[in-house]
Amino acid sequence: MVEPTRADKFSFGLWTVGWRGVDPFGDATRPALDPVEAVHRLAELGAYGITFHDNDLFPIDATEDQRRTRIDRFTAALRATGLVVPMVTTNLFTHPVFKEGGLTANDRGTRRYALCKVLRTIELAAELGAHTFVMWGGREGSEYDSAKDVPAALDRYRESLDLLTRFVVDRRYDIRFALEPKPNEPRGDILLPTVGHALAFIATLEHEHLVGVNPEVGHEQMAGLNVTHGIAQALWHHKLFHIDLNGQRGIKYDQDLVFAHGDLMSAFTLVDLLEYSGTLGSPAYEGPRHFDYKPSRTENIDGVWHSAAANMRNYLLLKHRAAAFRADPEVQEALEAAAVSELRTPTLDPGETPDDLLGDPRTAHFDIDKASERGHAFVRLNQLALEHLLGAR
Ligand code: GCO
Ligand code: MN
Ligand code: MN
Repeated sequence: MVEPTRADKFSFGLWTVGWRGVDPFGDATRPALDPVEAVHRLAELGAYGITFHDNDLFPIDATEDQRRTRIDRFTAALRATGLVVPMVTTNLFTHPVFKEGGLTANDRGTRRYALCKVLRTIELAAELGAHTFVMWGGREGSEYDSAKDVPAALDRYRESLDLLTRFVVDRRYDIRFALEPKPNEPRGDILLPTVGHALAFIATLEHEHLVGVNPEVGHEQMAGLNVTHGIAQALWHHKLFHIDLNGQRGIKYDQDLVFAHGDLMSAFTLVDLLEYSGTLGSPAYEGPRHFDYKPSRTENIDGVWHSAAANMRNYLLLKHRAAAFRADPEVQEALEAAAVSELRTPTLDPGETPDDLLGDPRTAHFDIDKASERGHAFVRLNQLALEHLLGAR
């Protein structure tokens, strides 16, 4: 029941299981992990995909030959295991050259260098058959408001996205872009800090149909936002192109915990949304279930593989709990009592005008006192959800 299979579409970033545990206060606690080893272990554990930043595979200063050798070794491992690369992304944050930003750095030379780095990584994504290109702008932002002209930075971000989308259209690559919001860390404040900011920005782009979002559970929660609501809105806009699943416990530094090791109730409602939104009348999400987590630095390599498996196991456990929740007649009755599906009925009758509405006696004589007396029975519904989550039903 909770053994992952390729059909579950679980994927992991090379930088997740490969994270060596360096943090601002301490050195690495684990040795480097060979990407080939990562491919084999993830395949054995039941994942279907692996993703990476250009520099997870080869160093930023690699020669052409070194770059090619690393890519070829990696693709041989993919062929041997059948693992696919659904998504690729660019590292525009580790090297000191990006300390003030990449695509929105004040320095024009840095921006041109960053754009070239992205273009080359898109070529690699196309070569490996990836269909999603994630853009996480961790260094796009500032610590000091007076140091960044935000409207100009957004102009440069848009200029970049317009160039990149034109590039994939001209090259006929089957690739779409997914912007990954984050409120802060590593910059004091990051541009496009939430799903909502990103969606508003995307609407201004030249090829906006090629650009969506890659929300990360913990990033929304770092901003104190409801991630399930954020994902629901991204789906509603047909913009959920990819997702980063992990765990976060409240408003603090980016924890990147194992999925469901943070806010468990949110993890449950999120899985329920991802699995059922299609059948409940919203757009369905059919993309990868991608884990972007960091195995805690307390763990050795056994703990790394244990935590990788835990992400998938938790998703599947929650998927089964969501199925039980949806199938329970008492839940259906509670949903009915809470009038949840009534919200799908349009407020106006077909063709009804403002004058019709103003002249409707049902509205004119609407008994607000009687309506106020109604209890909405939401707590009972939530308790049923919790009991299913706890396996008590
Ligand atoms: C984070 C980010 C990163 C990005 C990844 C893709 O935890 O702050 O999630 O992990 O997702 O680097 O560029
Ligand atoms: Mn994160
Ligand atoms: Mn992420």
